Amino acid sequence: MGFLTNEGQTYSRGLEGVVAAISAVSAIDGQEGRLIYRGVDIEALAEYSTFEETAYFLLFGSLPNKSELEQFSAELRDAREIHPRVKEHLKVLPSDPHPMDVLKLVVSHLALYDPDKQRMDREAKIRKSIRTIAQFPTIIAHYNHARHGEEFIPPNPELSHAANFLYMLTGNVPDEENARIFDIALILHMDHGMNASTFATMVTASTLSDIHSAIVSGIGTLKGPLHGGANERVLKMLDEIGSVEKAEEFVLKSLQERKKIMGFGHRVYKSYDPRARILKQYAERLSEKYGDTKWIEMGKKIEEVMIREVGRKGIFPNVDFYSGIVYHFLGIPRDLFTPIFAMGRVVGWVTHVLEYLQANRIFRPRAIYNGPLDVEYIPIEKR
Ligand code: CMC
Repeated sequence: MGFLTNEGQTYSRGLEGVVAAISAVSAIDGQEGRLIYRGVDIEALAEYSTFEETAYFLLFGSLPNKSELEQFSAELRDAREIHPRVKEHLKVLPSDPHPMDVLKLVVSHLALYDPDKQRMDREAKIRKSIRTIAQFPTIIAHYNHARHGEEFIPPNPELSHAANFLYMLTGNVPDEENARIFDIALILHMDHGMNASTFATMVTASTLSDIHSAIVSGIGTLKGPLHGGANERVLKMLDEIGSVEKAEEFVLKSLQERKKIMGFGHRVYKSYDPRARILKQYAERLSEKYGDTKWIEMGKKIEEVMIREVGRKGIFPNVDFYSGIVYHFLGIPRDLFTPIFAMGRVVGWVTHVLEYLQANRIFRPRAIYNGPLDVEYIPIEKR
C-alpha cells in the first residue's frame, strides 16, 4: 500500500467516537449523565467509599475486605515520604513555575530513586504505581511550602490519604467534614473512561516504556485548560465577573464572542455531569459553613444562564465547575487545583495502563497525507 492510498480511510477530528481500547475500569453514559467505576455508580462511591477503598477497587477489580483494605492503606501510608535528594531539589526550584510542571519534574526525579527502577514485571509496576499514588500529595504540599521558603510538614501516619494532604498543606488537621469532602472530591476525579490524559498514559505505556514515564505523559496532558486545567480558570473567571449581578451579562457576552465558559461542556456528557452535581452540593455546604455565598451564587447564576442559552446543545456544568469553589473553602491555593485533579486521576491512569498491558499492542494510528508529491529536492546553494 503506497502513501497515496487514502481511499477508504476515515478520519474523526479529535478521535471523536473512535474506540481505542476495551476496558472494565469505568464507563460513562453521556445521555443519562451516569458514571460507573467497575459497575458501581459514582454516587454510591461518593456516599459510602473512601479514597483508599475506591483506589483498591479500581486497581484490583473488586472491593477489598477489611484486612485487604487495612493492608493497602498501610502500603499507601508507608510510601508517602519522598527521597531526601528529591526534597532537597524541591528547595532549589524557582518559585514561579506552575505546580503541574513541578509535578512532572518530581515524578521523573523520583523514578531515578525508585527501588524497582530496573524492573519491568507486573508486580514491580503495581508497586511503583502504589508508591506514586502515595507520593503525589507529598510532592504537591512540599512544593507549596518550598516555593514560599517554608519548612516541609512531614506526612502524618494517623491520617487518611485525603486528610493527610490537607494537613501537610495547611499545618492543621482538618475537621472531619472537610476531610471527608476532600476525600469525595478525590474519588470523583479518580477515573473517567478514555479521557485525554488516560489515553496519553496508555500510549506511552504501550511502547513498553516505564510507569513513571506514562504518569508524566498523563500529567502533561491533564495540565491543559481543555482538560484538568479548567478548574483553576473557573475561579479566575468568577474573580473577573466579580458579582452575581454581572454574571448573566458576562456569560451572554462570552457566548456572543464565541468564547468558551470554563467548567462547561464535555465530549461525552450531553447532560449534567454527575460529578458536578455532587460537588455543587458540597460547594453549597461549605459556602454556608464559612458564611461566604458569593462564589456559589455566581456559579449558580452562570449555570442557569448557560443551561438556558446552550443546554439544548448538550452543554452543562462538568466536574471542573464547582470543584474550585470546594477547594477554595478547604484552603487550597488556586494553582494547586489541577495537581489535585491529578492526585485523584493518577489512580485511573495506572489502572488503565496495567489493564492495557495485559493484552498490549503498541498504539500506532495513521494520518491522511494531504501534502504535495514528487517535489524536487533543491540543494541549499541553489535555493
Ligand atoms: N462554553 C461555550 N460553548 C461551548 C463550551 C463551553 N464551555 N464547550 C463547548 N461549547 C460549544 C462549542 O463552541 C461548539 O459549538 P458549535 O458547535 O456551535 O461550534 C460545541 O459546543 C462543541 O464544542 P467542542 O469544543 O467541539 O467540543 P469538544 O467535545 O471538542 O470539547 C471540551 C469538549 C470539554 C474540551 C469543551 O466543552 C470545552 O472546551 N469546555 C471548556 C473547558 C472545560 O471545562 N474543560 C473541562 C472538561 S471536564 C474535565 C476533564 O475531563 O478534564
